[in-house]
Amino acid sequence: MTREAHTELCQSEVGVAILGMGTVGTEVVRLLNEHGDSFTHRIGAPVVIRGIAVRDTSRDRGVDPSLITDDAQALVDRPDVDVVVEVIGGIEGSRQLLLSALKQGKSVVTANKALVAAHAAELAAAADESQVDLYFEAAVAGAIPIIGPLKRSMAGDEIQRVMGIVNGTTNFILSAMDETGADYAETLAEAGRLGYAEADPTADVEGFDAASKAAILSTLAFHSRVTANDVYREGITKITQQDIKSARKLNCTIKLLAVCERIISEDGSQSVSARVYPALVPLTHQLATVNGAFNAVFLEAESAGQIMFYGPGAGGAPTASAVLGDLVAASRNVVHGGRAPGDNTYANLPIAEFGDVQTRYLVNMHVVDEKGTLSKVAEVFANHDISIATVHQDDVVENEDGTNIDPDGKFARLAVVTHRASEANLAACVESLGNSESVVKVTSVLRMEGQDN
Ligand code: NDP
Ligand code: HSE
Repeated sequence: MTREAHTELCQSEVGVAILGMGTVGTEVVRLLNEHGDSFTHRIGAPVVIRGIAVRDTSRDRGVDPSLITDDAQALVDRPDVDVVVEVIGGIEGSRQLLLSALKQGKSVVTANKALVAAHAAELAAAADESQVDLYFEAAVAGAIPIIGPLKRSMAGDEIQRVMGIVNGTTNFILSAMDETGADYAETLAEAGRLGYAEADPTADVEGFDAASKAAILSTLAFHSRVTANDVYREGITKITQQDIKSARKLNCTIKLLAVCERIISEDGSQSVSARVYPALVPLTHQLATVNGAFNAVFLEAESAGQIMFYGPGAGGAPTASAVLGDLVAASRNVVHGGRAPGDNTYANLPIAEFGDVQTRYLVNMHVVDEKGTLSKVAEVFANHDISIATVHQDDVVENEDGTNIDPDGKFARLAVVTHRASEANLAACVESLGNSESVVKVTSVLRMEGQDN
């Protein structure tokens, strides 16, 4: 059924199905009820909640109990529903519900980054087929408007790079490690106590959540389909206080970054790199100032130059703000006609091989403290076509708990910062360092972003 056929039935009000009434859904419902009159003026017709789908119908949700149902599909199928708001999460169940809504000529608003990152093409095709809207502003960086700006305000520019702190939980943990000197496990537990980290924090700390967001941002920025599986991903679970301290010595801090980049080869061909990893960011960079559970997205575009979007990236009310912005836009289109810009992947750029991606690196290692070590280490880097920018040596090698693991003074800690080099060369170099007699152990390798060369 097309939008026209559907809306002929009901234009004097906009019927909304809310799927999910958890952290985000509860705030969506509360704000819709509190500001109903304002929404009517902004849209041109009242928004009426037709029903709210949940799993557990026995709980008192503080709303008219007749609205609550555990049959989400039946709610989606109601003929008086024009817009479906999905704040359930998960992939397969939500995918089926939203495809069904779109095929019935109903617009969709979702906060579900995992779903959009995996199935945007299919959902967008269904929205195009029925000429309805598919909105997902809340899927990336919570309250921060970034999807709308990429689709509309920046549609006339050529985006080169998007660097984002797009996961509040990991940014809270890394900020706390930096500020308090506490280790990863302690700060993760604190994040749980404060309600940032979920009972199973895997999606956040292993970078899956940020990878979904990187896929969505890359697709929009480079007009090319990028899914979560295309994103190279490393989480923050291996970051130690030694890494934080080594970053500080270089006037940097460590952030889990989503880096989305247009790569232009020497022959002029272009590709897209999307990657998520903890990286050193100079303290002078705007992203270094983003602390706690806040998010930020830093854009570099040909004409606009550098732009940063900053704000709360998670939480019920902030995320509901983005959901409701989408709901107002979708409802306006139901009442007045028109459609939001769909996703446009005309450029169809290929995904870059990760080995070809270039950045700078900090390689921390324990070495044998004797004559010739520095030159041997430097030779390994040179043999892999990697230029060294700086080298810093510490006499004492401490364990994470501060104990001296080298009472005889035989070892030293070496921190080597490189100029830009390819991931493939760096990986081969680290393997050779591991085989060098002068190197006791490569203790960590961290990328460095936000600097030239
Ligand atoms: P919650 O787990 O708090 O809430 C999920 C809701 O969905 C619950 O009300 C649950 O019912 C309901 N639900 C689960 N399965 C079904 C089902 N099969 N049928 C009907 N209802 C179902 O999730 P959040 O509110 O935190 O997140 C929702 C979405 O928003 C996710 O996609 C998430 O990634 C995204 N998001 C969340 C942010 C946040 O800060 N929380 C920020 C940005 C995006 P019941 O209440 O009975 O358990
Ligand atoms: N778990 C996510 C975060 C929620 O910590 O940022 C917002 O997508």
